[in-house]
Amino acid sequence: MEFLKLAEQRYSERAFDKAHPIEEEKLSKILEAGRLAPTACNFQPQKVYVLKSNDALWKAAKLTHTYDAPIVLLVCYDLNTVWKNAREEGYNAGEQDASIVATSMMFEAEDLGIHSIWLRGFNSKLVSESFELPENIKPAMMLAIGYPSESSAPSPRHSDRKPLTDTVEEL
Ligand SMILES: Cc1cc2nc3c(=O)[nH]c(=O)nc-3n(C[C@H](O)[C@H](O)[C@H](O)COP(=O)(O)O)c2cc1C
Repeated sequence: MEFLKLAEQRYSERAFDKAHPIEEEKLSKILEAGRLAPTACNFQPQKVYVLKSNDALWKAAKLTHTYDAPIVLLVCYDLNTVWKNAREEGYNAGEQDASIVATSMMFEAEDLGIHSIWLRGFNSKLVSESFELPENIKPAMMLAIGYPSESSAPSPRHSDRKPLTDTVEEL
């Protein structure tokens, strides 16, 4: 689909059809879109955990609202491989790398008719503890994906976007 149309039709899904599983072939395409995403210096520090067992989904739902999604992708980055900025002490591109990976997966899912919602309402430390992540793996966001249920609808604020004149400025 033409990209702007895809961007226009996407909305955050908050009513997944838990009983409708995602086909393995489609999940592979979604993960492939993340693999192809650019990352700083092409260091590819991302680590994507596919949460789909009952136990993993239950843990995720205790950490943040996952809206009954049949799959939650926990997107993390590896502190050992992430690009660090020599011109700015303490800065690394992990959140940005993870974001572009998650965004690529979000739009590939949308193109396949699979809805999604980006989730950050969790406590990183609790996520690490719950999934026993290694010390160097930092959780950035979750992307819950699945087919919409009958009650699916965009939130009333979904189309409430600021005009470009508010957010873009020429310098
Ligand atoms: C960084 C980020 C964090 C978000 N975290 C959550 C979240 O924890 N829970 C939730 O229900 N929605 C979350 N969202 C979804 C936003 O609320 C949603 O994208 C926004 O309201 C615009 O609505 P739309 O996606 O339907 O266009 C998050 C989105 C982003 C980009």
